[in-house]
Amino acid sequence: MITAQAVLYQQHGEPQEVLFTHSFKIDDENLKPDAVVVKTLASPVNPSDINQIQGVYPSKPPKTLDFGTEEPAAPCGNEGLFEVLKVGENVKDFQPGDWVIPSNVNFGTWRTHALGTVSNFIKLPNPAQTQQQNDPAKKGLTVSQAATISVNPPTAYLMLTHYVKLRSGKDWFVQNGGTSAVGKYASQIGKLLGINSISVVRDRDDLDETREKLKQLGATIVISEKENLSREVSADIKSRVKETQGEVKLALNCVGSKSSQGIAKKLNHNGLMLTYGGMSMQPVSIPTSLFIFKNIICAGFWVTELLKNNPELKKKTLAQIVEWYETGKLSDAPTNKIQFNEDAKEELHSLYLRGINDKNGKQLITYNIGVNE
Ligand SMILES: NC(=O)c1ccc[n+]([C@@H]2O[C@H](COP(=O)([O-])OP(=O)(O)OC[C@H]3O[C@@H](n4cnc5c(N)ncnc54)[C@H](OP(=O)(O)O)[C@@H]3O)[C@@H](O)[C@H]2O)c1
Repeated sequence: MITAQAVLYQQHGEPQEVLFTHSFKIDDENLKPDAVVVKTLASPVNPSDINQIQGVYPSKPPKTLDFGTEEPAAPCGNEGLFEVLKVGENVKDFQPGDWVIPSNVNFGTWRTHALGTVSNFIKLPNPAQTQQQNDPAKKGLTVSQAATISVNPPTAYLMLTHYVKLRSGKDWFVQNGGTSAVGKYASQIGKLLGINSISVVRDRDDLDETREKLKQLGATIVISEKENLSREVSADIKSRVKETQGEVKLALNCVGSKSSQGIAKKLNHNGLMLTYGGMSMQPVSIPTSLFIFKNIICAGFWVTELLKNNPELKKKTLAQIVEWYETGKLSDAPTNKIQFNEDAKEELHSLYLRGINDKNGKQLITYNIGVNE
């Protein structure tokens, strides 16, 4: 019998008011034939996890009595990495030691263990399995890479490849939120695909340093929000784009407000702006003239919806990202790790609350694993 813990909530609200840690049992001695028992290696805190707890995110896990709570409760966390501990007699696809991620959102990844079935998980190569391939160009995935592989890297990859044909060596995309995890993946993937990029970042004291870091990742041009609204900077960018004989065909917006106006203005005729986030909490603002005289198209992007009914696209996308990670062509967005220690007094949900309150980069809760960090 495994004693597991999960972070749950019974009502929506601010995380510090509604989250609690709940212990439950997994009977791993009497498994159903298709059962898969896993332990968690790591799970991150993403903005959408917080919105889900607050009740302002359209996709939510159902409240259930499955955890043995007196009132129905919902699990937190949508992304994470598990290691298979035990499988039922009919399970052929997984074996103990395999690394798996949830096949869908709302599975609940802020927990120590889970009991599921084969359909709940997708297998990723663990470092030992990559090593067995005897390919000197490949190194194993790290825990951080695998635990954060299903949301931000596919978001960047699919926005760049699924909607508009960007010609390698010529075309451009423009994005705001250049310092976000998605933005950093987009800069890197753009470079891997030979696509030029303009990244807009919030004005800051260390602007030059930020510019340099993002350019090293792969961004072609990095400008501040103030520069995003400047006519001189826009004219300068226009001539850089002309030199490549390409067009700015795609804008990626995760901020809204005037920032979205600035990036939409950099699009060429018939350009597409995909809105995938609203970090400023302000509406997307686009001048009317861009619609009438430049035929700009604006649409939303939601990775959950796109991949929900397209498992093949999900498989293909993950395979590409795994290959780039294994061959060292893609770097994961750095994470701040918070280690869960079963023997320590701090409850599991408090670790996630620390992650939620720390606004310095992506927070990853890790679970005592000690491999390939
Ligand atoms: N639609 C989808 O399928 C999908 C998928 C993945 C992510 N997302 C969304 O994409 C966005 C970024 O996610 P992430 O995980 O990459 O985020 P992240 O790594 O936590 O980065 C947050 C970004 O937002 C910026 N920011 C924070 N507050 C802001 C404000 N008030 N005004 C303007 N910018 C602000 C930060 O800039 P500083 O560096 O200046 O602080 C940083 O660039 C979120 O809205 C998330 O929900 C959507």
